[in-house]
Amino acid sequence: MSEKKTITTSNGCPVNHYEDTQTAGPRGPVLLQDYFLQEKLAQFNRERIPERVVHAKGTGAYGKFTVTHDITQYSRANIFSEIGKETKLFARFSTVGGEMGSADTERDPRGFALKFYSEGGNWDLVGNNTPVFFIKDPKKFPDFIHTQKRHPKTNCKDATMVWDYWSLNPESLHQVLILMSDRGTPDGYRFMNGYGSHTFSLVNANNERVYVKFHYKTQQGNKTLTEAEATVLKGTDPDYAQRDLVTAIENGDFPKYTLKIQVMTPEEAKTFQWNPFDLTKIWPHKDFPLMEVGEIELNEIPDNYFQDVEQSAFSPSNLVDGIGFSPDKMLQGRIFAYPDAQRYRIGANYNALPVNKCPYSTNSYHRDGAMRFDGNGGSSPNHYPNSFDGKVEDEKSQGLPYLLDSNEVGYFDRNFNDDDHYSQPKGLFEEVMNAQQQQNTIHNIVGAMSGIDGPKKKEIINRQLCHWFRVSPALGKGIAEGLGVKVDEFIK
Ligand code: HEM
Repeated sequence: MSEKKTITTSNGCPVNHYEDTQTAGPRGPVLLQDYFLQEKLAQFNRERIPERVVHAKGTGAYGKFTVTHDITQYSRANIFSEIGKETKLFARFSTVGGEMGSADTERDPRGFALKFYSEGGNWDLVGNNTPVFFIKDPKKFPDFIHTQKRHPKTNCKDATMVWDYWSLNPESLHQVLILMSDRGTPDGYRFMNGYGSHTFSLVNANNERVYVKFHYKTQQGNKTLTEAEATVLKGTDPDYAQRDLVTAIENGDFPKYTLKIQVMTPEEAKTFQWNPFDLTKIWPHKDFPLMEVGEIELNEIPDNYFQDVEQSAFSPSNLVDGIGFSPDKMLQGRIFAYPDAQRYRIGANYNALPVNKCPYSTNSYHRDGAMRFDGNGGSSPNHYPNSFDGKVEDEKSQGLPYLLDSNEVGYFDRNFNDDDHYSQPKGLFEEVMNAQQQQNTIHNIVGAMSGIDGPKKKEIINRQLCHWFRVSPALGKGIAEGLGVKVDEFIK
């Protein structure tokens, strides 16, 4: 029989009354000197850290990435160095707008964040299950997200503010159309694709740059829920997607995704029909075909959710030599937003936590700060340059000088010469969706827009209907009819 362990206080002192508080007499009152009561209550009061300001509800798994195709002509990143190379990774899936306890089947984009523990450093690809986004300038993000959260007065989700914002920002149309299709309610996390969404760059050993988009395609096949199915699941099993992922992995049914890239040369970027760095646009696959790179497998649920999933910190700023940024304004904004959020949410030394730490050597002169528990650099120098430790800058990974299109500094209108918000959604609705998918999308939009209320109701509905008509007359007509708006009157 194994020896029983004694319960202790956090300073290691054995506890002999775990549940009965020390009192004056059997019926109380309680004595202040029962420190263990204080410790338990105080520790409990501090169990929560701020939830993520977006993507609060999520689930995570460890896994591995295996290279299946050679892309060393595009990137010298260590992770892609040879076919067969395996790299450990951590993935976190999430919904965006809801709080930590919200339902998994809400209509919402899904986060699909990956942290590759590569020998060249941790590389994070912090993507979604959609290839585009609602806005194209990071200054717009807080306002946009406010509309996805709760109303300042009622504290309820509010269709009026959502559609007011979207109707005033037609750059959101492409993403809104995807969100309103059944792809807005994927059947858990195993049956959906992921996308790095932004344009990144790859740099090869000859210091040559290409632009790239990352796609991670589910090998389980795409499955979506209808609005009705998703609504039932919100009530009957709010943790549906989390349970599905945990159960599959615990049963040895490991989800897999194929990592693919689209590549665009800097010359092609100059003549591309749209701004190649505009996050509201895709690159057509016929012009920029998908190339296979490798396989992602998720095979281990962390033993402790809080330690690894809640404290995980992904950031688009975590790039490695051979993979670079692009001029995409949204990507540039995210470089600041994530580490800042994580210093607030987890603390200054968040990158020293096991799930975030690079398993290979990290050598910096950062020191001290709250909760320093990793040796803090020991007795080694904390200044650079110094005459003692012999550390040097890495000459190989100085990166390629960045070529700018313009040297004019200013506040440029994000839509100047970039205001085609309609062609790509049109192609999606008219050419990609089949009749059933079109029908479901119209049904979902009518349901969502039916919640618009108040004195501006007509104005907001009309403004958004205009956008839908410009995408496709059939789409606009279907929605107008569903909302009871007389099309003839409207078109006049
Ligand atoms: C300027 C635009 C954006 C800003 C300012 C922004 C900001 C943030 C912040 C502050 C967090 C919480 C980070 C944390 O506490 O750990 C977050 C999480 C996240 N964001 Fe964004 N975001 C932006 C756009 C995007 C885009 C375009 C995507 C996808 C392509 C995306 C995907 C995610 C994901 C997946 C997470 C959750 C990561 C995790 O699982 O921990 N975000 N975002």
